[in-house]
Amino acid sequence: MTPLQTHQPGVGLVIGAGGGLGAALLNDLRQPGPQAQAAPTVLALGRHTTPVLDYTDEATLAAAAQWVAAECAALAQPLRMLVVASGFLHGVIPGQAEGRSTQPERSWLQLDPAYLAHCFAVNAIGPALVVKHFFPLLARSGPCVAGFISAKVGSIGDNALGGWYGYRASKAALNQIVRTAAIELARRNRQAVCVALHPGTVDTPLSQPFAKAGLTVRSPAVAAGELLAVLRGLTPAQSGGFFDYRGQVLPW
Ligand SMILES: NC(=O)c1ccc[n+]([C@@H]2O[C@H](COP(=O)([O-])OP(=O)(O)OC[C@H]3O[C@@H](n4cnc5c(N)ncnc54)[C@H](OP(=O)(O)O)[C@@H]3O)[C@@H](O)[C@H]2O)c1
Repeated sequence: MTPLQTHQPGVGLVIGAGGGLGAALLNDLRQPGPQAQAAPTVLALGRHTTPVLDYTDEATLAAAAQWVAAECAALAQPLRMLVVASGFLHGVIPGQAEGRSTQPERSWLQLDPAYLAHCFAVNAIGPALVVKHFFPLLARSGPCVAGFISAKVGSIGDNALGGWYGYRASKAALNQIVRTAAIELARRNRQAVCVALHPGTVDTPLSQPFAKAGLTVRSPAVAAGELLAVLRGLTPAQSGGFFDYRGQVLPW
């Protein structure tokens, strides 16, 4: 059971809900649990929701957090589950020359300040601002889970291939932010869990250009089910960790 499917009332929130994984996580979380009386309330935020949430504009996070606080107050329930499914690997960077699509670096010769800055803005700084604006809304007692979708390529210990400097470094930064936030969160609620998660290779717009034969690619629905199963099984003692979609601990 997720914290939303226990007898403890609570609201869920998916950030990055318009993405491949985010939409599948939202759909899964909105299903009623075995012991729930009704489908839990799970809110969705992203660049195409109302209110909008865009990491490149902190004011949108502040306004979106106020909206979530108002929804929780109206239901008289705290925020019990937060899943952050946003991320950036390739594509057009806002404000850059029109049509200039970026790709992860294959060599140091391709290092580009604008691409690096955008990787950090979406993969690390944005989730840090989620901690700032949304963690104060998390339940102060009872089960409570925050899961941040990271990537195994953000593991420094596991890096044997090189390449993808910006994505790797920004996900490593995310992992450190998650670990740090988990420590502070535990002081607020000893039953809280805050982790970084690797979803495996999932068929979404983010992975599509890198699809290749021999790679096991799962559907967003399957990956979402696996990630939520991992989140369900974690205990507060495992908070601050980095886990893959099978629940295996990954090296930092
Ligand atoms: N797919 C894979 O194989 C794979 C593997 C390892 C890790 N991951 C990680 O899994 C997570 C989900 O990725 P995905 O595969 O579902 O990719 P996706 O379909 O491209 O979704 C990316 C998400 O990031 C959001 N986003 C991008 N820029 C943003 C910004 N400036 N502000 C707020 N949100 C922003 C998008 O929001 P909009 O809805 O507003 O566009 C979208 O929801 C990411 O953290 C990714 O790094 C994926």
